[in-house]
Amino acid sequence: MSDGAIAELAKRRGFFSQTAEPYGGVAGLYTYGPQGAALKDNIEAAWRELFVTREGHMEISAPDVLPGAVFEASGHLETFDDAIVECPECSGSHRADHLVEDATDLEDAEALSPERIGELIADREAGCPVCGTALADQPVEKFNLMFETNIGPGSGSPGYLRPETAQGIFVDFPQFAEYARNQLPFGVAQIGDAYRNEISPRKGLLRLRALVQAELEHFFDPDRDEPPLERVADVKLPLYAADAQRTGGGVRSLTVRAAVEEGAVEPWVAYYLGRSLEWYDEIGVDMDRFRYRQHRSEELSHYAADCWDAEAEVEGDWIELTGFAYRGSYDLEKHAAGTGEEYSVFRQYEEPVTVERPTVDPDMSELGPAFGSDAAAIAAALEELVERDPDAFDDERVVVEAGGDRHEVPVEHAGFAVEEVTESGEHVPPHVVEPSFGIDRLVYTVLAHGYSEDTVDGEERAYLAVPPAVAPTTVGVLPLMDRDGLAERARTVAEQLRAAGIAVAYDDSGSIGRRYRRQDEIGTPFCVTVDYESLEEETVTVRDRDTTAQRRIRTDGLAETLRSLRDGDRSFEEL
Ligand code: GAP
Repeated sequence: MSDGAIAELAKRRGFFSQTAEPYGGVAGLYTYGPQGAALKDNIEAAWRELFVTREGHMEISAPDVLPGAVFEASGHLETFDDAIVECPECSGSHRADHLVEDATDLEDAEALSPERIGELIADREAGCPVCGTALADQPVEKFNLMFETNIGPGSGSPGYLRPETAQGIFVDFPQFAEYARNQLPFGVAQIGDAYRNEISPRKGLLRLRALVQAELEHFFDPDRDEPPLERVADVKLPLYAADAQRTGGGVRSLTVRAAVEEGAVEPWVAYYLGRSLEWYDEIGVDMDRFRYRQHRSEELSHYAADCWDAEAEVEGDWIELTGFAYRGSYDLEKHAAGTGEEYSVFRQYEEPVTVERPTVDPDMSELGPAFGSDAAAIAAALEELVERDPDAFDDERVVVEAGGDRHEVPVEHAGFAVEEVTESGEHVPPHVVEPSFGIDRLVYTVLAHGYSEDTVDGEERAYLAVPPAVAPTTVGVLPLMDRDGLAERARTVAEQLRAAGIAVAYDDSGSIGRRYRRQDEIGTPFCVTVDYESLEEETVTVRDRDTTAQRRIRTDGLAETLRSLRDGDRSFEEL
């Protein structure tokens, strides 16, 4: 495959092209054409079938814009940034860590501090990729990737376009927990747009400013719930562990069972690595160019305790398709602190239990005269302290901070006591594991891995060997010639197939060979040709894209046959 073959095919055949090209286009914004939109929809449908329907999770749809408070709590306003360096000559802005990666053999300079990145740019004498000016003396700074807007008129209510669909799930967790009848484990999935003001978008769909994510947040009780590992125990995972990256080791093939037994992968993460590997294979990712790479500690996101990326080799580079992050209870705790609401699940005990609970009942008639205007704050501090550290009340005096000062309070004025209370259950803060898929990168990978070239009847052809289930069009219906009633008959066949729910392209322009090539290039797995025999005996030929083999079959069972080929219930050879 020549460089740029996918981009050229994508534009010519209607997969994707830069948005607003008549205005010069915008880096990082792409529009899917008819083939691309259909391929993307089919990949999303396949994702939904596995991660919602087969796994039994719920799917929601939250808005793209959310109030600033959500992202203050989630940490995105503070930490969701990349390193930027600007060229003093042409004013171009560049990802400083990418310049370092290009100039060194480092694979992930994103994990380095801006200072270290600046040193490496100077050391390696890296220049501006546009005009070549030396960048050694330019400051490397952090640039926040959030798109800011105002919700409603005026600036009193700042909002942000979501940089991940996940926050729309976390922020309304209490509601979703109710829908799940407060029973862990449960999963909430969402497919939708996310926005990142990338410094230097590149490589078409691979780094976008408006992207599509399909994310699942699977909430579970870390002390009680276990994933159904038996479903995937024998799936072999190509694991590129953090240690192997540090020591120059390679990818190890381990079954899910072995990876969990060895402690190489956390069980919930391992479950989804196994589930997803089979799925990638089904939608057309080449398993010989695929691996799971663990994040090294220095590259983990602010919310992740561990993370494995699904990576595919595309045009010579390894690109991240999906992040499988163990987010612990980070997000729910942050939103609980941001709102004062309960972001946990109430678990009922089988029998009520009686427990001892230390309490305080501050005596304001003593605290008021003793501490004046600080008395109320001291009472609140005592209530907070008794929950956090009841042993602090063991001595005669207890020390608290309030109003900026330390205060000593006699324990008898705090009203300290240990009460017996009966409890019917407890609040469990769930942990979450998050498979987060980038749909655009999957679309690109499926195109790049499916792109094939061969020679048919002495003529070179390019075709897209994408699985029938995700191909934009399932069947091309072609009359052998546009005369003698063949076209009318072919149009009728096309209508019948469409009515049966099959994606059909009808084409009667140009030679039959040319029409086959056009369908091959957009990945149409089957072509139905109506010829003279079709008029006499109610049959058509069905041609297989990859082998170009043909079979003659009867039209009465045609829709059913094509549906079973599309859904993988039978193969072309079995016809
Ligand atoms: N909720 C977790 C999260 O958003 P991420 O690793 O930042 O994690 C998840 O993003 C996936 O989204 C990535 O694996 C990648 O496929 C896709 N993605 C992220 N940034 C992207 C961009 N600028 N353009 C295209 N896809 C992107």
